[in-house]
Amino acid sequence: MPLPRLSQQNPLSLNELDIYSPELAIIISYPLFNVLQYANRLNEICSLGITHVLPTGSTKIGNIAIAGKGSVSIVLKVKTKGKICALKIRRTDANRETMKREVSMHKIANSVDVGPKLFRFSKNLISMEFIDGLSIVDWVKQQDITSDEVRKVAISILEQCYKLDKVHMDHGELSCINHHVVISKLNTANIIDFESSSTQRKSRNVTAAAQSLFISRGLISNRVNEMLGCAKKEKNIGVLKTYKWNQNKANFDKIIDAFC
Ligand SMILES: Nc1ncnc2c1ncn2[C@@H]1O[C@H](COP(=O)(O)OP(=O)(O)OP(=O)(O)O)[C@@H](O)[C@H]1O
Ligand SMILES: [Mg+2]
Repeated sequence: MPLPRLSQQNPLSLNELDIYSPELAIIISYPLFNVLQYANRLNEICSLGITHVLPTGSTKIGNIAIAGKGSVSIVLKVKTKGKICALKIRRTDANRETMKREVSMHKIANSVDVGPKLFRFSKNLISMEFIDGLSIVDWVKQQDITSDEVRKVAISILEQCYKLDKVHMDHGELSCINHHVVISKLNTANIIDFESSSTQRKSRNVTAAAQSLFISRGLISNRVNEMLGCAKKEKNIGVLKTYKWNQNKANFDKIIDAFC
């Protein structure tokens, strides 16, 4: 007599869902389920070599935990042949037709070692390095982080922003840093989401991130200022203005000296 199906499963498979699992249909074609869009996205997912979804993360769709949800996309932790990655799937109600523009901006960021490494992409998908961590706001809320760790993270964010300024790419959303920086378990800062980035606008990454980290009123800046003891002094605001007009290394270093 054949064994019951459940006992034949590898215990690991209980923590992962085959990409064809019916439970994933409402996530792959989200928020409106449409058979054609589901079939197209499923085809693209297979063509990128993705085989399984690992249902983990603090956001849920139905009963399935996912890595993240934004206004343009759903992000899943997935598995290709033995490799874990993040899969960004364009929502069916997204205000753009493809992920093409985001991919070209993401490539520019990667060219200066900023952002999760981009692996593969198609019309509706981007697969990239999975960042296992916390949004910066959840990270700063932790009671056991030290001022040295906060300083290291703040400097790393500003240095990455400086690299983006140097290649004249404006991220576009760093004044709302909470949604766009993930801190990994090793306390490494990662700037994510290049869909609003542009090489046509003046780049203002360092000033926008510094504004969020130190100047604007909010949970992140309150905690960073409390940990680093950098009050919002006129002098500090002055160095941001100087950098805004001349984005050179000397002016960038003055920002680091003043705030960090
Ligand atoms: N590479 C990644 N690794 C792990 N989690 C990620 C990764 N990229 C994105 N996420 C998670 O998914 C969420 C949504 O991603 P993202 O901001 O790229 O989507 P979006 O649709 O462009 O969102 P928004 O509406 O904020 O612009 C992020 O806040 C983050 O929690
Ligand atoms: Mg976005």
